[in-house]
Amino acid sequence: MTTHKHSHAQWGSRLGFILAAVGSAVGLGNIWRFPYMVGQNGGGAFVFTYLICIAVIGFPILIAELMVGRRGQSNPITAMSRVAEQNNRSSAWGGVGFMGVLAAFLILAFYSVIGGWGVNYIVKVGMGDFAGISADAVGNVFNGMLGNAKELLIWHTVFMSLTILIVAFGVTSGLEFASKLLMPLLGICLVAMVGYGAFSNGFSATLDYLFSPRFGDINAEVILSALGHAFFTLSLGMGVMISYGSYLGREINLLRTASVVVVMDTGIALLAGLAIFPIVFANQLDPSHGPGLIFITLPVAFSQMGGGLVIGVIFFSLLTFAALTSAMSLLEPVVELLEEKTPLNRAFSTIISGAVTWLLGIAALLSFNEWDSFKIFGLGIFDFLDTLTGKFMLPLAGLGVIIFVGWFMHRKIIREELHLGNTGELIWQIVARFIAPIGVIIVFVSQLLELLNYQLADILAYFT
Ligand code: PFF
Repeated sequence: MTTHKHSHAQWGSRLGFILAAVGSAVGLGNIWRFPYMVGQNGGGAFVFTYLICIAVIGFPILIAELMVGRRGQSNPITAMSRVAEQNNRSSAWGGVGFMGVLAAFLILAFYSVIGGWGVNYIVKVGMGDFAGISADAVGNVFNGMLGNAKELLIWHTVFMSLTILIVAFGVTSGLEFASKLLMPLLGICLVAMVGYGAFSNGFSATLDYLFSPRFGDINAEVILSALGHAFFTLSLGMGVMISYGSYLGREINLLRTASVVVVMDTGIALLAGLAIFPIVFANQLDPSHGPGLIFITLPVAFSQMGGGLVIGVIFFSLLTFAALTSAMSLLEPVVELLEEKTPLNRAFSTIISGAVTWLLGIAALLSFNEWDSFKIFGLGIFDFLDTLTGKFMLPLAGLGVIIFVGWFMHRKIIREELHLGNTGELIWQIVARFIAPIGVIIVFVSQLLELLNYQLADILAYFT
């Protein structure tokens, strides 16, 4: 990024922006969250719904967020209220940005716990902990880690400290540089693992599982999870893409750039699915295992393949790197806000916000062991944070942005931003005004009803 005097900083190049945006989008969401969501939500039914959500809701909202950022030239809250004012609307729209920043903060707390699992596994695989052991034993190692609060705390702390260091010292440009090498390497590593899976006896079952959806399995829960995941994986609804958009130069084509981000992000997720499920099926593991899925399947494959130790270490290192570029983008908006609104400098803003997130992360990791009986709405703290952000806050903030852009942004501005022909503009209007917002609203209301139902049942049960 280069800073011009008197103006907001801008990305050095289109490539620089794409690397940073892809760096934010591609992370644990693609490699850890996507496969386990697929496993918990009926395989192909989820994949199919997720792809639709990405295309008709995620993609337009990504464009809308980048557009608000580029117009607003500031942090998500100021950008939203500034753009609202430019369009003669109330600056209260800044509230949408605020919810996004809050969501980013909550997500980072549990994201860092999983990032810690990644770092821990670099060491475990490297030390040969999985060499020659059975799939059951691999599962036991994972469960042992979950049950051990101290172990989780150490690695959560390591991951969070790395994130704080990167953000505090503003070494993001160094990271941008490293991304050029490491992101493609992650892609290559996944392709190689898919290649390995292709020769195992679980591959045809995998293709069937992922790409032959049983449409009867698509229910409200699957749709909601797919939508929430589309937001999570594209880093939407958190103000992150608004922040990033604010560094975009005028000359950059938003549509093309957003397409690259979406294609790369979706591609990496599908590759992760194709790499992981052959191991699941070849070893008769349970696809619906939940958040531990990649941590109990991949080491099985690494323990069986020649050179598995080295490949395993490389893989978990690349995963950690991808997680760090995402974590950094989660912390950035909070830091940017503190820096602008308080007298704190960058280093202090980062340390304070990082420390608070770290504390919240401790509560999340304790829900796997010491505090496992403490529930909020029937969920442990980790699941509660995941559900609150993924299923409620992100869709709601994303909805705010797309409604604003679809309904209240002057046509002239849209024209200047998107450079679409007449037909293109018509399609944009239909998608931004109707398809994307209505999609989110339907999913959202159905979830709310389900929750109320659950609460109502609870309350009734209490009185009867
Ligand atoms: N998109 C990231 C992933 O898929 O891992 C997670 C994430 C990063 C979400 C940044 C939100 C965000 F603002």
